Amino acid sequence: MSRTVLILAIAFTLLLPGLASARWIDDIVKMDVEATGPVNFSHYNHLETLGKKCTLCHNKVYNIVRSKNPDFSMDEMRKGKACGACHNGDKAFAVDDDCSACHPTHDIAFKTEVGNVTFPHDVHTEMYSCSDCHSDLFIPDQKKNKQFTMAEMDEGEACGACHDGDTAFSVKEDCASCHPTKDITFKVEDGDATFPHSTHIEMYGCTDCHSDLFIADQKKNKRFTMDEMGEGEACGACHDGDTAFTVEDNCDSCHDM
Ligand code: HEC
Ligand code: HEC
Ligand code: HEC
Ligand code: HEC
Ligand code: HEC
Ligand code: HEC
Ligand code: HEC
Ligand code: HEC
Ligand code: HEC
Repeated sequence: MSRTVLILAIAFTLLLPGLASARWIDDIVKMDVEATGPVNFSHYNHLETLGKKCTLCHNKVYNIVRSKNPDFSMDEMRKGKACGACHNGDKAFAVDDDCSACHPTHDIAFKTEVGNVTFPHDVHTEMYSCSDCHSDLFIPDQKKNKQFTMAEMDEGEACGACHDGDTAFSVKEDCASCHPTKDITFKVEDGDATFPHSTHIEMYGCTDCHSDLFIADQKKNKRFTMDEMGEGEACGACHDGDTAFTVEDNCDSCHDM
């Protein structure tokens, strides 16, 4: 480095507010944890709170040479090792207070024949610890779990371990709480037809229509004519003047005409 560059570098550093020296190191150290997904330790957040004192951690808590650090367990941390040197409820929040502060989670999408189910991790991590679900109920890796059926959940597996109508709403009843629906518009030249999911799921389960009458994906169904419905297909399976008002009449109950 030439003298001018060096002086410029030092001047530049002095001009930077606050964390100047910290900017010489990377902010995030990614610590791989198989059981929970990676923990991203932030140097900058810590140096901001603790002051620019590298020696608070290096090398008495963590060696600066990463290969010299063993893998610590949460139990060791509870006893004051590693993050637990400070995260003990005294100097900083305790390791048992809030798992997701260090082990962030994201929502999980399950693909099913009746549309996508979103599992909101955060709603659950506010009530439970990671180990209530991992790894007995679910392996924390989407690719490694088998696919569960609703019948298995009825028997207490997977979501059904809690969603049993007692601890939380039941997998037997509250389909729409996990499987959301919206009203469907069918484009028709003389006037669009609307299918209100909401009124129908008050009367029927998802599987009364899916997938025998309709595939739960607008792009995959063939288009039906009123004649076919008159013969009992699609809406006509129920809208026959017996189970529900007939498709031979009542045009404006379904069509915007
Ligand atoms: C609050 C604790 C803490 C403080 C303070 C701290 N570090 Fe770290 N540092 C860590 C942890 C944790 C690791 C990762 C250790 C591991 O995974 O083995 C680390 C790793 C490092 C690494 C290795 C990064 C890599 O990718 O190989 C360097 C370099 C480093 N720190 C420099 C510094 C310097 C310089 C300072 C002061 C400006 C500092 N640290 C302050 C906790 C701290
Ligand atoms: C030298 C003490 C010390 C050590 C060691 C330490 N922390 Fe912290 N940490 C703090 C303090 C102080 C705060 C801020 C006060 C609070 O939030 O309770 C903090 C805040 C945090 C936060 C919240 C702010 C943010 O960055 O989002 C996280 C997450 C965190 N620490 C993770 C860790 C992890 C992971 C480790 C171990 C790899 C660790 N800390 C080790 C002292 C420490
Ligand atoms: C202050 C940050 C912090 C908090 C809070 C925290 N962890 Fe950790 N946890 C870590 C870090 C860092 C590692 C990786 C340590 C290593 O590999 O050296 C880890 C490792 C683990 C591991 C693998 C090692 C083991 O003990 O089996 C599990 C499982 C785990 N955490 C679960 C939890 C749970 C459950 C909670 C809440 C009760 C929690 N963690 C809270 C930082 C934290
Ligand atoms: C109420 C149960 C429950 C709790 C509590 C819970 N999880 Fe999960 N977790 C799940 C489910 C369900 C999945 C998805 C499994 C699947 O895809 O088959 C999952 C998946 C994961 C995955 C894999 C994500 C992916 O993209 O593959 C990670 C990592 C994870 N969880 C971490 C955590 C951590 C860390 C905590 C605690 C802060 C936690 N979980 C708490 C139920 C839970
Ligand atoms: C460890 C117990 C437990 C497990 C396992 C569990 N849940 Fe929950 N879940 C709850 C509790 C408790 C509530 C809140 C109480 C209620 O609403 O009845 C809840 C609430 C929800 C909510 C409503 C969230 C909101 O915003 O109000 C959804 C959606 C949900 N769970 C989906 C799932 C899915 C999908 C699975 C399986 C992949 C699952 N849960 C597994 C306990 C659990
Ligand atoms: C607590 C959330 C939850 C509730 C309540 C729920 N499901 Fe599910 N359902 C799921 C999840 C998650 C999957 C995907 C599981 C997987 O892929 O491992 C699923 C899968 C399915 C599947 C495809 C697998 C199979 O069993 O054929 C159907 C169909 C289904 N659900 C229908 C329903 C119906 C009907 C109801 C109401 C009686 C219902 N679900 C209630 C979460 C729920
Ligand atoms: C009375 C019959 C009926 C019932 C009951 C029913 N659906 Fe549907 N569903 C339909 C029809 C009709 C469509 C539209 C098909 C088309 O567009 O060709 C549809 C479409 C869907 C789609 C695809 C939406 C899109 O934008 O592509 C999803 C997802 C879906 N339904 C989920 C559900 C779930 C979950 C339940 C139970 C809570 C349910 N349905 C109950 C008739 C029903
Ligand atoms: C599984 C039986 C079933 C199927 C399939 C079905 N419906 Fe219905 N539908 C009903 C019943 C039962 C009612 C309420 C009784 C009545 O109004 O005669 C109803 C009511 C309605 C209503 C009036 C809702 C309200 O808010 O008053 C509309 C609009 C409707 N259906 C449209 C459709 C359309 C469009 C389709 C086809 C895409 C369809 N339905 C398929 C059974 C069904
Ligand atoms: C139960 C609800 C419902 C009733 C009642 C109904 N329709 Fe329809 N109609 C639909 C739906 C849904 C479609 C679109 C189907 C598709 O695209 O797959 C449709 C499609 C059509 C089409 C275009 C397809 C074709 O057959 O040419 C016409 C025209 C039509 N309706 C006219 C009518 C008239 C006229 C009436 C009254 C005699 C009527 N509909 C009653 C739901 C209804």
